[in-house]
Order: sequence, then structure tokens, then C-alpha cells
Amino acid sequence: MVMSCIELVQVASVVALAGISLAQVPPEHSRLFPDGLGVLDSRPGAGLNSMQGVSFEATQWEFGTVPQVCYNAAVDDGYCDVYDLEVYNITYDDCAVPWTFCRCSDSPMSIEAFAERVGWLPVAARQYARFFSSYRGNASAFSLGNDITFFGRIVGPSVYIHELSHNLDTLYAPPDSLTSFSRTDEYVDAVAADSCSPDNYAMTSYAEHYAQTSVMIAYDATVEPIDNVRNTRCMRNAFNAAREHLASIWQFDEVGRCTSRLSEDDSPPVCMGPEAPCPEDLIRIAFSPPGVVPERMQFPPELMDEELERKRRAEREAGMGRYAEKA
Ligand SMILES: *[C@@H]1O[C@H](CO)[C@@H](O)[C@H](O)[C@H]1NC(C)=O
Ligand SMILES: *[C@@H]1O[C@H](CO)[C@@H](O)[C@H](O)[C@H]1NC(C)=O
Repeated sequence: MVMSCIELVQVASVVALAGISLAQVPPEHSRLFPDGLGVLDSRPGAGLNSMQGVSFEATQWEFGTVPQVCYNAAVDDGYCDVYDLEVYNITYDDCAVPWTFCRCSDSPMSIEAFAERVGWLPVAARQYARFFSSYRGNASAFSLGNDITFFGRIVGPSVYIHELSHNLDTLYAPPDSLTSFSRTDEYVDAVAADSCSPDNYAMTSYAEHYAQTSVMIAYDATVEPIDNVRNTRCMRNAFNAAREHLASIWQFDEVGRCTSRLSEDDSPPVCMGPEAPCPEDLIRIAFSPPGVVPERMQFPPELMDEELERKRRAEREAGMGRYAEKA
């Protein structure tokens, strides 16, 4: 059921995408980090693991209701028995509005460790993520429509930065466009002018290339010059194109506060199901007919195919697992 929905979306996208380059990242590029970017997490002197974070308070929701997106992940995607979902408000010191976290009770990631890692993401960037979720599974992650989902025990900051970078990729799309920055001629041409790319994962699409480049920029902005690790001259065009908007957002700012949190209003609390106690005024049972994406969950087709591809890849291949596990 879900598949047929995805296929439909893809057909629609092909039409909408006419005129947008679907070229591959040049396959002849050498890889600056043949073993992946996990090495940036724990370099001598700590690497990204030395990122500063903010403290937070966790308040668990009462059993019975869950955000719509988490209900769908449990019931439609089968990530968790819906009655085993734990939902938390995580209120970081740098933002009055809490983030909502969903965790399946069998996730190997504790809510404390999970929220701590997310708190390492500078608020200037973190505010462009909505729900964070954690389920059991092979180490992998994806970002779909600004909601970030992790499988397995993922502690490497590079994975958190990578996923949030997909959101920033959309944020920095040219005004009035429905695409993402990594698919603009500016970025594609910059990559074409380079002779290397970050790593194998970056070769799979421009979106992943941008997200991996962003991890390098975050390292450069928060730990030490990235050129202390690898000489980035062979990818300076892509690096500089992305750094123009990413360098400042990755810098830890001790007095930084959230300024434009994304709204969670289109994912209201819904009842887990008939066996859960729910307040009278809540939607009694979440309604998710097979094969139909509720309108409020839809994204422009130009983004949708890329987002879905990202999700499928995470589920299918655990593409990031290798470097997530190293972290
Ligand atoms: C969680 O945060 C929302 C939004 O601020 C608030 O309305 C709700 O009461 C909070 N729930 C708990 C259990 O703290
Ligand atoms: C993890 O990966 C292995 C090997 O690809 C696969 O057999 C297994 O089903 C996966 N486990 C989960 C929970 O997805």
C-alpha cells in the first residue's frame, strides 16, 4: 500500500522535475575520507565529540496520546507498537518552546543520551528540526520533512549534523523555489569544478554530498580548521559554496536563543488507540488510510521524491551505518 503511494508520488515528480538537473555527482571524484566522516567524531583532542551542548529538562507525556507523526511511524511504518511509544517534551535552556521526542521503549538509545546529543546541535540550526524519534534497528537515520528519525544506538555527532543539514539544505533553497540548495546550478557547478568529494556516501546524491560537506564545515566551525585533518583544496568550490551560509549557523553561541522554531501544529496529539486513555477532545483514533498521505503531511513533489528516497535508503541499506557505528 505504501509502495503504491510512493510510486505515484515519483511519477508526479518526474514531470515537475523537467528542467532540474538530475546529474550524478561526478563518479571520477576521489574521496577525501575513504572510511567516512565518522573519523571526525573522535579525533585526538576529541573531535566533534567535544562539541558543547546546552542542558535540558525532560517531561514525559502521560500515556495515551502521541503526536500524529509518531503515530504514523509506529502504525504505518511499523517502527514500534504504538502503545510502546514514549513521548517527551525536551526543553533546552536556549529555547522556551520544547522539542517533542518520540522513543520506542525498545530503542537502545536512552532518552537522556538522545536529547543530550541533539542539545549539541547549535540552536541556530536545531530550531529547523521538529520531531526527533528513536527506534530500534540497524544504525541509520533519515530526515523527512524536517522530522529526524534515528534507528539503533547513534552517538556520533556527525550523524546528527548530517541529518539536520538536510533541513538546512531546504532552508537555504533559493527564494521562491521548491527545490533545495544542493540541487541548484550553483552547487552542482561547484561540485563539477572540484576533483574530490567528502566520502562514498556523498557520492550517492547532491543532497548527501551537501550534508557530508556540511559535517566538514561544522567541524571547521566548532573544532579546528578542517585542513588540519585533510587538505580540502580538491573540493574547495563545493566547500565554499556551502560554507557561505553554513559556517555561522554551526558555530556554538553561548547566548544563542531560538528565533524561528518550526511549528508542530500540523502534527497534533492523537490517541494511541482504543486501549489508551485519552482526553475527550482528542482525535479518538488516529486515522491513516492506507496509501493516502494526509494533505498536511505532503511536501512539494520536487522535495518529496528526494525526501522519500532518503527515507527508503535509510531503511533499506542503513547507508550511514558504517560510520554511525564507529562513532
Ligand atoms: C509539552 O509542551 C507543550 C507545548 O509547549 C505543552 O502544551 C504541553 O503541556 C507539554 N506537555 C507536558 C507533559 O509537559
Ligand atoms: C539489520 O541488517 C541485517 C543485515 O542487512 C538484516 O538482516 C536485519 O534484518 C536488519 N535488522 C533490522 C532490525 O532491520
